[in-house]
Amino acid sequence: MKIPIAALLLLVPCLLHGASAVHPHNNFTSIFSFGDSYADTGNFIRLAAPFIPFIPFNNSPYGETFFGHPTGRASNGRIVLDFIADAFGLPFVPPSLAQGQNFSKGANFAVVGATALDLAYFMQQNITSVPPFNSSLSVQLGWFEQLKPSFCNTSQGCEDYLGKSLFFMGEFGGNDYIFFLADNKTVDQTKAYVPAVVNAIAAGVERLIQHGAKRIVVPGNLPTGCTPIILTLYASTNASDYDHYGCLKKFNGLALDHNTLLQRRVHELRSKYPHAKIGFAEYYRPVLAFLKKPAYFGFNGSSALSACCGAGGKYNYNATAACGFPGVPACADPSKAVNWDGIHLTESAYRDIAGTWLRGPFAEPPILSLAH
Ligand SMILES: *[C@@H]1O[C@H](CO)[C@@H](O)[C@H](O)[C@H]1NC(C)=O
Ligand SMILES: *[C@@H]1O[C@H](CO)[C@@H](O)[C@H](O)[C@H]1NC(C)=O
Ligand SMILES: *[C@@H]1O[C@H](CO)[C@@H](O)[C@H](O)[C@H]1NC(C)=O
Ligand SMILES: *[C@@H]1O[C@H](CO)[C@@H](O)[C@H](O)[C@H]1NC(C)=O
Ligand SMILES: *[C@@H]1O[C@H](CO)[C@@H](O)[C@H](O)[C@H]1NC(C)=O
Ligand SMILES: *[C@@H]1O[C@H](CO)[C@@H](O)[C@H](O)[C@H]1NC(C)=O
Ligand SMILES: *[C@@H]1O[C@H](CO)[C@@H](O)[C@H](O)[C@H]1NC(C)=O
Ligand SMILES: *[C@@H]1O[C@H](CO)[C@@H](O)[C@H](O)[C@H]1NC(C)=O
Ligand SMILES: *[C@@H]1O[C@H](CO)[C@@H](O)[C@H](O)[C@H]1NC(C)=O
Repeated sequence: MKIPIAALLLLVPCLLHGASAVHPHNNFTSIFSFGDSYADTGNFIRLAAPFIPFIPFNNSPYGETFFGHPTGRASNGRIVLDFIADAFGLPFVPPSLAQGQNFSKGANFAVVGATALDLAYFMQQNITSVPPFNSSLSVQLGWFEQLKPSFCNTSQGCEDYLGKSLFFMGEFGGNDYIFFLADNKTVDQTKAYVPAVVNAIAAGVERLIQHGAKRIVVPGNLPTGCTPIILTLYASTNASDYDHYGCLKKFNGLALDHNTLLQRRVHELRSKYPHAKIGFAEYYRPVLAFLKKPAYFGFNGSSALSACCGAGGKYNYNATAACGFPGVPACADPSKAVNWDGIHLTESAYRDIAGTWLRGPFAEPPILSLAH
């Protein structure tokens, strides 16, 4: 198997474990990914280009650290999925909407802004704050189903091919909750939608299993109460709304509700489909670990709650002058920052998280063990 050059550059020590990302487990033949901006590798910029003239993610300084140019990834460089593909000796998972791609080693259906729930669900609930892009989880699964005949065309063929593939179902949910909140629902009102969101994710996992998927990783939500955008938009004058890291407790409570229920559903799916290996992976605890001991992970503790790329404000986040807008600068050393643009993380944070998913402890079971 040909090892991509990028893989060689990756032999950097993992800050969490001191282990290195060589690829001893080359036996996933492909990776398929579904999700939102934490997983998109270039779909949104293709989907939205005809409709919106200006897409921040498609501008400098996005991509500056690794690719040297914007790729549609909402980061300064690689995301978790890139590091995981690399650890298995596979190419970076190409966006499914890219023209002329060969998807035999996998495809990424994730889209910035995607929701677990369909557009129709929000409309029924009279939620008008959702952008009109048709990119929800079930739409992404439809794209997968359209592409599937190009990978395999008999039930045995599909079982063989998809059974050797690694699937990521998520992250999903973060945007669903943002859209309910943007519609002026309180955090408590928004919590009422957690079961519907989690059901949509679980239904997506089942649909993949019915297609022949056998290794599926389901990522949970981030501690959104620690993100510059939420800290800015929902700033409170009441100190008791903040935890000892400076995060907004209520918003983290919402993410925790989601994660707890999602993890429970993953356990149920494992019992229902014992032949499949279904992993649960976390953003929540690794991000809190960065805030708890920033220096240990090489991050600057005094700016751990601030965006690296931004135009000022307490958390260096300003919605009308966000990262990717003309003249909005990145910090001098993004490798010392946890957060990139107010919402998404930096490459260095994603690299650390990928390490904890591959080897544990923040994926259960660790993803490397799924390949055995
Ligand atoms: C796609 O790539 C695979 C191996 O990477 C190769 O076997 C196959 O022929 C390619 N398909 C096309 C249509 O180029
Ligand atoms: C949505 O709005 C319509 C028309 O105002 C109303 O009849 C319906 O009950 C609303 N649905 C919900 C879930 O609030
Ligand atoms: C979104 O896409 C789905 C599946 O392709 C389709 O059934 C639905 O009508 C679309 N909805 C909108 C609002 O475009
Ligand atoms: C079925 O798929 C195989 C490879 O997966 C391909 O070589 C073959 O041409 C396909 N057959 C049809 C009828 O599409
Ligand atoms: C990966 O390799 C191990 C050991 O060689 C084997 O038991 C397992 O079935 C392989 N997994 C896949 C998905 O091919
Ligand atoms: C939410 O509240 C704000 C401020 O009161 C208001 O300007 C906005 O129109 C409301 N949005 C919705 C969707 O109700
Ligand atoms: C601050 O929040 C706490 C807990 O929610 C509440 O008990 C208290 O009354 C609030 N204080 C003010 C000044 O609003
Ligand atoms: C850490 O961040 C603070 C606040 O932004 C900044 O003043 C300081 O120079 C940074 N330290 C390092 C070592 O980058
Ligand atoms: C946000 O950016 C806009 C446009 O540059 C500016 O007018 C505004 O003062 C900024 N807001 C804050 C809170 O810095």
